[in-house]
Amino acid sequence: MTSLSGKTVLLVIGGGIAAYKCLELIRLLKQREARVRTIMTRAAEEFVTPLSVASLTGEKVHTALFSLTDEIEMGHIELSRAADLLVVAPATADLMAKMAHGLADDLASTALLATDKPVLIAPAMNVRMWTHAATQRNLETLRRDDIAVIGPNDGEMACGEYGPGRMAEPAEILAAIEAKLRPAARPLAGRKVLITAGPTREAIDPVRYISNHSSGKQGYAIAAAAVALGAETVLVSGPVSLPIPPGVQMIPVESAAQMLAACESELPCDIAIFAAAVADWRVAQVAGEKIKKSEGRIPALAMVENPDILATVAKRRDKRPAIVVGFAAETSDVVNQARAKLASKGCDLIVANDVSTASGVFGGDRNKVHIVSPAGVEIWPDMPKQEVARKLMDLLASRLPPRAKAAE
Ligand code: CTP
Repeated sequence: MTSLSGKTVLLVIGGGIAAYKCLELIRLLKQREARVRTIMTRAAEEFVTPLSVASLTGEKVHTALFSLTDEIEMGHIELSRAADLLVVAPATADLMAKMAHGLADDLASTALLATDKPVLIAPAMNVRMWTHAATQRNLETLRRDDIAVIGPNDGEMACGEYGPGRMAEPAEILAAIEAKLRPAARPLAGRKVLITAGPTREAIDPVRYISNHSSGKQGYAIAAAAVALGAETVLVSGPVSLPIPPGVQMIPVESAAQMLAACESELPCDIAIFAAAVADWRVAQVAGEKIKKSEGRIPALAMVENPDILATVAKRRDKRPAIVVGFAAETSDVVNQARAKLASKGCDLIVANDVSTASGVFGGDRNKVHIVSPAGVEIWPDMPKQEVARKLMDLLASRLPPRAKAAE
C-alpha cells in the first residue's frame, strides 16, 4: 500500500515543451500504485506522442471531444468525475485562460469544466506570458475558484529567457498530488461546536423591526470550517440570505432572546463561537397591532437591554464550553476595546475587527482581524472570510485541551 493506492488521477497534458516531464510524472504516479488516465490537447501531441503516454499509463489516451467510441465506453463527463483528482500539467497560458473563463471547446477544457473533483495545475510558459497581467488575472480567478497551483519555478527556460515560468519538477507535482489526496485531518471529530451568526431582529410591531447590517458570512464560513475539521456543528442564525453549509445543523432564530434560548438548549458543547451581531436593545413593549401614524404624534419607543448571549454562556458555572470565543465589532481602538471585552464578557478569545464603513467588512467577502487572548495579540493580514474561518478553527482545535469533555 502507498499513499496513492486505489486513487485515480486524471492527467490533462497541455501543449508546451514541459509536456515531456509528464512522462516522468506518470512513472512516479504508477510507482505509487495510482491509476493514471490521460487527456492530451491537440497541441500536446506535438510535444509527446499518445503512444508513449499510453505505454506508461497502460490506458487509452483520450484526445477528441467528439469520439464515438469514447462516448460509448465512457463519456467525457464521466471521465472527469471518475477521478479523485484532476492534474493539469503543463498548464499553458491558453489552458489557464480557458479554465478561468469557463470555456469548453475541446476535451481537456470540457472535462475541466464538467468536473466536481479537486483540480491541481502546474503552470508552465514563457516568463513574459506568465507575468502578463492577463495570466496573473486568470491565476487569481483560478485560486478564487479553489484550484490548487504548484509552481512555476524560476530558472532558465527552453526559449532562452530566465525567470518564473518553468513547470514544477515531477517530484514536486507528485508531492502536491499526495498532499491533495491525503485524507483531511479531523481533529474535532467527536467534538461539538456551537456558532451564532447574522443579525438579530427585534420587533417593534407585527410589521417593523430593529436590526443591523450583519451578512452572516463570517459565521457561516466558520461553521463550514468546523465541519471540515470533523466537528458536530450547530449554527444558530439570525435572518440572512446565505446557503446552509453542508453538514451543518442550522437553527433559525429572529430575536436575541430566541438566540440565547437556542444556544442554551445546545449545551454542552466543546467550543462556542459568538459571531452574531446581536441587537443590544429591544423594544420594551412590542405592539400587538401595527402602530398607526397619527397627526403630529411620533411614537416614543422605550427600550430595554437584551441579554448578552456571549457573557451568559461564558459565565455559566455548569456546561461552560471549554473554549468560548467572542467577536468585537469596533469602529476605533480595536485592540484595546477587544481586551476590555475579553475581561468583561469572561470569554477565552476575542476575534476583533474593524467594522468602520471604510473597512468594507460588513457584507464584504474579506476580513482583517486581530486575535486577542490572554496569550497575546495576533494580527492576521487581510484575507477572505473563508480563510479567516479556517485559520480560526485550526487555532481553536490546537488550543482545545485533548481530554476536555463538554461539561455535563
Ligand atoms: N454579543 C452577544 N449578545 C449580545 C451582544 C453581543 O452574544 N446581546 C456578542 C457578539 O456576538 C460578539 C460580542 O458579544 O461576540 C461582542 O459584540 P459587540 O457588538 O462588538 O459588543 P457589545 O457587547 O454589543 O458592545 P458594544 O456594542 O458596546 O461595543
